[in-house]
Amino acid sequence: MYASRTCRRLPQLGPLHPSPLSAVAVHVPGPPHTGGVTAPAPLSTAMLSSDVSGARDEDSVLEWVAELLVERAPLVLTGAGMSTDSGIPDYRGPDGERRVTPMQFAEFVASSAARQRYWARSFVGWQRFTAARPNAGHHALARIQAAGAVGPVITQNVDGLHQAAGSRDVVELHGALADVVCLTCGDRTTRGDLDERMREANPDYVVDSEEIRPDGDISLEEIDVARFVPPRCLVCGCDTLKPDVVFFGESVPKDRVERCFALTEEAHALLVLGSSLAVMSGLRFVRRAAARGIPVVIITHHLQRGGERATLHLRADLSASLTALADRVAS
Ligand SMILES: NC(=O)c1ccc[n+]([C@@H]2O[C@H](COP(=O)([O-])OP(=O)(O)OC[C@H]3O[C@@H](n4cnc5c(N)ncnc54)[C@H](O)[C@@H]3O)[C@@H](O)[C@H]2O)c1
Ligand SMILES: [Zn+2]
Repeated sequence: MYASRTCRRLPQLGPLHPSPLSAVAVHVPGPPHTGGVTAPAPLSTAMLSSDVSGARDEDSVLEWVAELLVERAPLVLTGAGMSTDSGIPDYRGPDGERRVTPMQFAEFVASSAARQRYWARSFVGWQRFTAARPNAGHHALARIQAAGAVGPVITQNVDGLHQAAGSRDVVELHGALADVVCLTCGDRTTRGDLDERMREANPDYVVDSEEIRPDGDISLEEIDVARFVPPRCLVCGCDTLKPDVVFFGESVPKDRVERCFALTEEAHALLVLGSSLAVMSGLRFVRRAAARGIPVVIITHHLQRGGERATLHLRADLSASLTALADRVAS
């Protein structure tokens, strides 16, 4: 799995344009919306005491990032890449291709059959999803935060692993798989309780699978879906229970988005970890940060969008690089 790759030594950094072959791409942001390398905006990297564009190797780049952390305690935005070392796959492979097609919101709400399929798959996948533990990257980020070198964490992940590692001030942008809500009456329950009820209703339901998918489910044969007894709400009796996560095709609740924009307005820098930024849901905070002229540092292997707004894009393994950063700022 590419998530277990160790850091590559970096080629010598060239000037300010990223090359697809280089492990590090460096940008000095121009004025909002123009891109390029013209005059840095007021709160740009030029205000940092050293300039990453002169860095020759990964150590120097990490040193520069560590300095940024200490000076600016960035707001953090994380994505699925944070959790691949915990055994939860991301949606996109290293080449940016989406590997699975998750169920869309419209499909989920449209029919009982779709919900039965969702819950059957999710029932089986949950056992492995819930067994996932925070990895070295989660632990390192929590250490960095405890040292005051990053601020709040906005996560696009629904696995709860930042909190399990001890991070505070975590905003779960897309909700949490551990929470369940009834779309009819609004009753809320925990996934743990619901899991128990689903076990009771499906005592002989055993499907042999080692597979786990990014959203915590697996693929199942239709025959296995058909024999699964789907859960119903204990309050209103409807079969409209939904994990309290934002599905593809569904909007993030407005107050949550506003809170994240407010955090972006207050931030002195933004650190993006393990997100391809393919989804507008996270990309918009990068755009807002860049428009404000604050440094945007991205550590992720593959970047689909947002690169042109980044001060620095470091293509490196997260567990290794966050541990190296924690050792620099939190020891
Ligand atoms: N763990 C989870 O909770 C989980 C998992 C998959 C998807 N999702 C959901 O899917 C959406 C997908 O968007 P996204 O941008 O978060 O994910 P994404 O799959 O689009 O991007 C993940 C990024 O992480 C990189 N990456 C993977 N492992 C890495 C590692 N060890 N070190 C460095 N980089 C690594 C990939 O190259 C990619 O750039 C999110 O909105 C999220 O809600 C959540
Ligand atoms: Zn209900």
